[in-house]
Amino acid sequence: MAIEQTYLMVKPDGVQRGLCGEIVSRFERKGLKIVAMKFTAIKKETAENHYGEHKGKGFYNSLISYITSAPVLAMVLEGDNAISVCRNLMGKTNPQEAALGTIRGDLGMMTGMNLIHGSDSPESAAREISLFFRPEELMIYKRTADDWIYE
Ligand code: RTP
Ligand code: MG
Repeated sequence: MAIEQTYLMVKPDGVQRGLCGEIVSRFERKGLKIVAMKFTAIKKETAENHYGEHKGKGFYNSLISYITSAPVLAMVLEGDNAISVCRNLMGKTNPQEAALGTIRGDLGMMTGMNLIHGSDSPESAAREISLFFRPEELMIYKRTADDWIYE
């Protein structure tokens, strides 16, 4: 097993559309463990740090204004290969190309309003988790259901 932690965030459109519960439940039902969760408004400076890799691209300014336009539901999830498992649950960046059954494929229409963010590598996950959470906000606990999720 390769237990990983990853940073997930229900974006402002997911919050505004009342889809937080729907989206979180998909990760929970899959078997991912909630390690931390926070409902927060992202400051412009934090958004620019988080999406620094996209600075200079055509969509950068609208991405920053979108992600700071309303609160987000930030969370850290844990599980075996959690980073790729969560990316697969999210679906492709463009919701019109994302497979049905994925969050973006089932619930979204536009790349610029694609509902959910998820870390794309262990390095991104470590960077993003530390950007949004203090170490003491990450809960360490035994989840009894793990005995029925992992063999
Ligand atoms: P995210 O980082 O939010 O999880 O999304 P992602 O990995 O699937 O996609 P990424 O390439 O990292 O792009 C970050 C976010 O920028 C917006 N975007 N708009 N108009 C465009 O061509 C475009 N491309 C990207 C999306 O909100 C995307 O999720
Ligand atoms: Mg990305």
